[in-house]
Amino acid sequence: MDAVHLKALRCPECGKDFSPQGVLTGPESLEEGAIVCQKGHVWKVASGIPDLLHPALTAEDEKWVAEYDEMAPNYDEAVKVYDQVLGIDLVEERKSIAQIVPLEGPVVILDVSVGTGANFDALHMVYHKEIDRFQMHGLDVSTGMLAESMKKAVRGGYRVRLTHGSIFNLPYRKNFFDVVLHSGGINTFSDIPLALREMYRVVKSRGTVVVIDEGLSPAMRKTEQGQAIMKANSLFSARPPLEHIPEGARDVEVSYVMNETFYQILFSK
Ligand SMILES: C[S@@+](CC[C@H](N)C(=O)[O-])C[C@H]1O[C@@H](n2cnc3c(N)ncnc32)[C@H](O)[C@@H]1O
Ligand SMILES: [Zn+2]
Repeated sequence: MDAVHLKALRCPECGKDFSPQGVLTGPESLEEGAIVCQKGHVWKVASGIPDLLHPALTAEDEKWVAEYDEMAPNYDEAVKVYDQVLGIDLVEERKSIAQIVPLEGPVVILDVSVGTGANFDALHMVYHKEIDRFQMHGLDVSTGMLAESMKKAVRGGYRVRLTHGSIFNLPYRKNFFDVVLHSGGINTFSDIPLALREMYRVVKSRGTVVVIDEGLSPAMRKTEQGQAIMKANSLFSARPPLEHIPEGARDVEVSYVMNETFYQILFSK
């Protein structure tokens, strides 16, 4: 990790920033070591990824995070099943994220459940010639997923600043990101209002929060194909959690993507 990464972060225990002196070893770039917040809380860094998961996972949570860890190396292959079942090309669909980001100028973007980094890979495919204007940050609770995300970025030759942490207590400064993105997990999260509040906290004023997850459009629900999809996987019956959009959020928009099988919510601050 480097100074740019450190500047984005806040201590997940006390909320204080990390001063530049927070890097305990290797001020230019820290691969293995620790960082310390202004109040003195110390957090490990391994393979360039700070471990800012706080509070620690419950035994119950640990079980399903272990499942994500196990799934991580085969995750991209496994989700290809959606291409057939939903009649989409997931990689192409992910590229449409490029339409949400500002078309020019510097963009600081956070993917809060970065998974294997497939969204950033798609962004890189679209913007490879100007990828340097994107400062990409990714967070995940699964270290297995983070490892896959790191591999992808190294293979693609672009930089992603990865952090181990939870969407329920984002270890990032408030008002920091131009775009905060989440795809694929929120329907099953234990505290959806808190997840949305945390995304809202870290996005800049006038920045955009993007939330995408399984959930058929009203029109698709009525079709035979829609009925079959919901029967095969009940997650697709989910509705966009509009009642939990944080108070004060502006320009709330809902649309349906991936052949109308996923909802996409946009809002700004
Ligand atoms: C279905 S995957 C989606 C991954 C990726 N966003 C994508 O579009 O392929 C859900 C992801 O959410 C992560 N996740 C689950 N609980 C989380 C939490 N509390 N905080 C952050 N990430 C979490 C999982 O580890 C997993 O990587
Ligand atoms: Zn602290």
